[in-house]
Amino acid sequence: MSSTDLPPYFRINPDQALADLDDPVTTTGFASIAGAARAGRDDLAGRGLAEDGQRHLRLFSTWEITRYLIPVAQAHFRRVLKQNPDLPQGQSETTGGAKWFTLDEVLRLRAFFGREGSKAKEYVPYRPKGLPAKMVAVANFKGGVGKTSTAAHLAMSAALDGYRVLVIDLDSQASMTSVFGGRVDDEWQTVFPLLARHYAKHLQLDNQRRLDRGDAPQPLDDTLTEALGITAQSLVQKTHWPNIDLIGAQLNLYWAEFQVPVWRMQGRGWKLWDALTDTLDADGILDDYDVIFIDTPPALGYLTINGLAAADILLVPVGASFLEFDSTGRFFDMLHTTFQSIEEGENLAARALGREEMAFQWDAVRAVVTRFDGSQQTEMAGLMQAYLGKTLSPHRQDFTALIGQAGEQVQGIYEADYRDFNRETYARGRETFDATYAAFKSLLLGAWRRDELAQAKAAE
Ligand SMILES: Nc1ncnc2c1ncn2[C@@H]1O[C@H](COP(=O)(O)OP(=O)(O)OP(=O)(O)O)[C@@H](O)[C@H]1O
Ligand SMILES: [Mg+2]
Repeated sequence: MSSTDLPPYFRINPDQALADLDDPVTTTGFASIAGAARAGRDDLAGRGLAEDGQRHLRLFSTWEITRYLIPVAQAHFRRVLKQNPDLPQGQSETTGGAKWFTLDEVLRLRAFFGREGSKAKEYVPYRPKGLPAKMVAVANFKGGVGKTSTAAHLAMSAALDGYRVLVIDLDSQASMTSVFGGRVDDEWQTVFPLLARHYAKHLQLDNQRRLDRGDAPQPLDDTLTEALGITAQSLVQKTHWPNIDLIGAQLNLYWAEFQVPVWRMQGRGWKLWDALTDTLDADGILDDYDVIFIDTPPALGYLTINGLAAADILLVPVGASFLEFDSTGRFFDMLHTTFQSIEEGENLAARALGREEMAFQWDAVRAVVTRFDGSQQTEMAGLMQAYLGKTLSPHRQDFTALIGQAGEQVQGIYEADYRDFNRETYARGRETFDATYAAFKSLLLGAWRRDELAQAKAAE
């Protein structure tokens, strides 16, 4: 073997390597790297390579509306529009061509059919009156398993189905925020102030007790004082979907992972896991929406714990591979340890004081197979099904080229214009996410119905 055939990692001369090496990097080194990236970014943006941030939702055709959204025959749909000139009539690209509608118009049409149409048909989705929105967390500490894709597609499906949807991004990577075109300058436009407000309220109560005992109160710093004046509604942004709102995330949200444990150290009795649930509830957010989707980071940190504690339904995306199955098992192990230790800590005090003990409870917990490749993963998925039983949702979300293929501006198959794809590819891609939604909707309706019956029983 001649020396030229050697792999590249042999014969590296240490002196030459040293000569090639820069000085050690200090903290300010990061600032100059960030500065270089910023300059590059601004340059690229100046050349029109950045998204303008303004996302626009495409239009929906009569075919798509009657096929997927409002279950009526096309001819009947056209007739109803003709008889009711006040209803949105759609626009066409050519005279006599197919009619296209905005989602806003579709929602108005759906409301009309719901009011005037056959009561036997399901124009408006089931939503028991007087009950709060259901919160759904999508979580797994393994990265890249499809959390954001699943949450985003479910949010869009639910919106197309006619629900009022709120999406909360707890991941400082902010993928979900960019799916919905959110603009977030810093942590003050994320859930961070809600957590701070919850702690500040705890501190205020605690201070009252201190004063009663004759102890000195703990001062509220600027952050906590400012947070006291912030409501969840003020954090909500509109998106390009008329019935999807967003509480976004941004890199600074990660700060919460450092700040929350400091607060918890100072205020031992603070129930940090209830921060999101309590503040959303107190602000009436649960009455403003039907379904709230919470996207979480690939970690079991304080933000994820808040999201999980707030959730009624927990979905855990997992690929049908040994590694993902294995790590998902450990994720459930960690969930058990984490929530059990919270319960034990709380109940120790509760027992001592003769108060009622607490226990976390979820309406439903489901693992969902994502990015499924039937030609390679059928056996693995079958094994997972055998071991997990009902916990694994029977529908497997297929790997679809639509997600990767959909151009720069389009993030989900529901946003893609079907004319850009081969009909077959489109129909199959859409089918798999429609089925994911159907499986989820069945959990949602079941959970609401259970609450509704319990409410009726309690009123007897
Ligand atoms: N059904 C699917 N078909 C094809 N590609 C998919 C599908 N679902 C997700 N992907 C792709 O897999 C990648 C990871 O998905 P996603 O970002 O949803 O995962 P995640 O769990 O949110 O990741 P992270 O842990 O970084 O937050 C993305 O590139 C996404 O486009
Ligand atoms: Mg994600």
